[in-house]
Amino acid sequence: MKVLVIGSGGREHALVWKLSQSPRVDKIYCAPGNPGIAEIAECLDIKADDIESLLNFAKYEWIDLTIVGPEAPLTAGIVDAFVKDERRIFGPDASGARLEGSKVFAKDFMLKYGIPTAEYKMFTSYLHAKEYIGLKGAPVVIKADGLAAGKGVFVCETVDEAIDSLKVIMKEKAFGSAGSRVVVEQCLKGEEASFMVLTDGKTVIPLATSQDHKTVFDGDRGPNTGGMGAYSPAPVITKALHLTIMKTVIDPLIKGLAKERINYRGVIYAGLMICDGKPYVLEFNCRFGDPEAQPVLMRLDSDLFEMMKATSEGKLKDVKVSWKDDPAVCVVLASKGYPGNYEKGKVIKGLDELRDMSDTMIFHAGTGIRKNKVVTSGGRVLGVTALGKDISAAKRNAYKAIEKVHFDGMHYRKDIADKAIKK
Ligand code: AMP
Ligand code: GLY
Repeated sequence: MKVLVIGSGGREHALVWKLSQSPRVDKIYCAPGNPGIAEIAECLDIKADDIESLLNFAKYEWIDLTIVGPEAPLTAGIVDAFVKDERRIFGPDASGARLEGSKVFAKDFMLKYGIPTAEYKMFTSYLHAKEYIGLKGAPVVIKADGLAAGKGVFVCETVDEAIDSLKVIMKEKAFGSAGSRVVVEQCLKGEEASFMVLTDGKTVIPLATSQDHKTVFDGDRGPNTGGMGAYSPAPVITKALHLTIMKTVIDPLIKGLAKERINYRGVIYAGLMICDGKPYVLEFNCRFGDPEAQPVLMRLDSDLFEMMKATSEGKLKDVKVSWKDDPAVCVVLASKGYPGNYEKGKVIKGLDELRDMSDTMIFHAGTGIRKNKVVTSGGRVLGVTALGKDISAAKRNAYKAIEKVHFDGMHYRKDIADKAIKK
């Protein structure tokens, strides 16, 4: 079978790596991919949002299954275009991807189907939103409605901060039309966890649980990023809480999607806040989390290709999924300046030495090639991901590998998985 994976981050490297282990997969293409992916797949010079070229390639090369990594092509309707052409593709169509593409849609959906989430109000007027913030006080969370590359959410401790954030979204239009509507939301305090499921709209298979580390500095300080590291499983999700999440979040979500006639085939990611032992949904994503996909896929024992093909065909009920007991930890190595403006083109040293480790993977994210050398080309550069017999061992293995890697300005969090170790 021939597979096309769309995207170029650590998540896509982990997907390609796991797919390459399937005996059913003969050839993997990745558009556009990165130098790490290029070691196991053929990378194509096609951008992830160039739907027409991707469809033409899939047709011309007789691709059996296309897998979409990032959210942008999903919200832009890549699945609709492929399905119309009778091509197999993994991911929700544009109507399903609205769960991530519009915070207003997601919040209204949760309200309609009784899914626990923070209290909120939607505004199209700056003045009305400002008035409401004054009335409600702080702390408060301000969210741009549309996709903003993970930067459209502001957790504000004071009213002034909240109004400044509102200005950035609605007056300065920092996220363009994604900010023409805002959600003003009650601020929840608790511990976050990532809960991903695979669904074909009828059957649901929960994936291993995980926890991301959103902020740039140790101790959950500093600005939010796309994610500085993750581990799996997340001990905060106990067996009892897992059942509660399935019953109060996932079941009503799947029933709601069916009621709305949304034929969802892909991953649903619920970003949760656990407050006093109860789950509240902060956001839905319509794809695997990144970096969460890296430790989660390291722990997968089953054939990912079979899982994804069955999902896209509506045959998920025939699939069984098993996981390694060993936990995994992923630490993201970032460029100087990230999550703000960052440096690029720094030579990455030490990758060769780490190539053949069995329990440690160096997933590439923002890397490129210059003069035959692997260099940095993005904010999040590498995801160093390791298994271990317990979470402390997995953490040790990941940080031991990091000692061998270097690029100018490299920075990373030193406390990934500490929350799980303390439990
Ligand atoms: P989102 O993209 O909606 O998940 O928001 C990004 C991050 O902002 C989340 O991972 C949380 O850390 C934080 N956040 C979002 N909504 C809330 C909320 N209602 N209360 C507290 N923190 C939040
Ligand atoms: N790591 C958070 C996300 O993928 O949205």
